[in-house]
Amino acid sequence: MRILIKNIKTLVQVDDGSRLKVSGSQMKVLPCLHDAWLAIEEDIIIDYGPMSEFPGISDWNNLTVIDAAGKCVFPSWCDSHTHIVYAGSRESEFSDRINGISYEQIAENGGGILNSALLLKTTSEEELVQSSMFRLKEMMFQGTGAVEIKSGYGLTLESELKILRVIKKLKELSPLTIKATFLGAHAIPSAYKGNKNKYIDLIIEEMLPAIAGEKLAEYCDVFCEKNYFTREETIKILEAAQKHGLKSKVHAEQMSNSGGVEAGVLCHAISVDHLEYIGIKEIELLRKSDTMATILPGAQFFLQLPQAPVRKMIDSGLALAVASDYNPGSCPSGNMNLMLALSCILYKMKPEEAINAATLNTAYAMDISSSHGSIAIGKKANVFITKEIPSYSFLPYSFGSNLVETVILNGIIQ
Ligand code: NIG
Ligand code: FE
Repeated sequence: MRILIKNIKTLVQVDDGSRLKVSGSQMKVLPCLHDAWLAIEEDIIIDYGPMSEFPGISDWNNLTVIDAAGKCVFPSWCDSHTHIVYAGSRESEFSDRINGISYEQIAENGGGILNSALLLKTTSEEELVQSSMFRLKEMMFQGTGAVEIKSGYGLTLESELKILRVIKKLKELSPLTIKATFLGAHAIPSAYKGNKNKYIDLIIEEMLPAIAGEKLAEYCDVFCEKNYFTREETIKILEAAQKHGLKSKVHAEQMSNSGGVEAGVLCHAISVDHLEYIGIKEIELLRKSDTMATILPGAQFFLQLPQAPVRKMIDSGLALAVASDYNPGSCPSGNMNLMLALSCILYKMKPEEAINAATLNTAYAMDISSSHGSIAIGKKANVFITKEIPSYSFLPYSFGSNLVETVILNGIIQ
């Protein structure tokens, strides 16, 4: 199967494939080619160029030509932080919060993550595959081509394995590139209330060996937060996971300055995510590390948390990624274009910075930036073609619209 896209108004985020992430002032730079063509063979981008150098075609067999006049072509979004395998929904908590009950109070009363864990316990693997596939499909037609998915609504050996087996099934069924993360340390289950150490022992002694034995996860994540897991506990769990070959990620500084960034940097985490309460000290630590700072503007907006100091972070030279955090409690949306819009509107990121953050930098946060996240010869043919739009900035500007017209994943039109 070969695809040739011609007359592309703007081919966005083109490079030679050597950039693995974009940092600091470079984030304002978005390399583009106007009036361009793009060639795909099998599942790989094989060439691109300006229309003035349009390739002569000798072999029309098996070639699909797409005319993209007036349209832009983007590398598919990479969404490096989601929790899309969950049962039921939590709109009653949404109403409770509107009535003035806080997210923390809801969690203290057994709602929140524990509510989702209860619902998941009685939901079958088949039902979870079905509901997660539905979410993945919606995300795909909104332009997402790669996604990281966390467990964490199980909180027992059996249920955590169930979620991770569902993610394994999704990898087989879905055309999206998927990475799996074990997040057993997402909350302290009711059965271990007042006995957190016992639960940490369960994670380390039973969950991690079982998960590694079945090769069910690439990463281990911890919710490092007041009333959840401390900095020291986070390090202990991440180090144990590393012994099983799982790289680190951290939910850090979401509700308080929790020490999550410090723990993450110490454990060479691939990313630290949320960062609403990040301070100068943590920015400095990140600047000297290879860890990707990731903001989740959907969750910040939905929970009305304070905003991470994004301008300060980028202006200090950090690389910044933007992901969705799609989950039933703090961000029931996986719409990456909306996340870009929120980044621009709320965080004063330039459209170019937001696009870099949601493509190459999120690819880095999933260890796939050598094959995803930009238009480069030899990279995975994961791209989307927009409807006719005046410029690439029209995407985050049109925050309520889906302007994605055609999705190509692994070189196949979806
Ligand atoms: O990333 N912060 C922790 N976990 C999720 C939310 C979990 C939930 O409310 O279900 C998050 O925001
Ligand atoms: Fe999360």
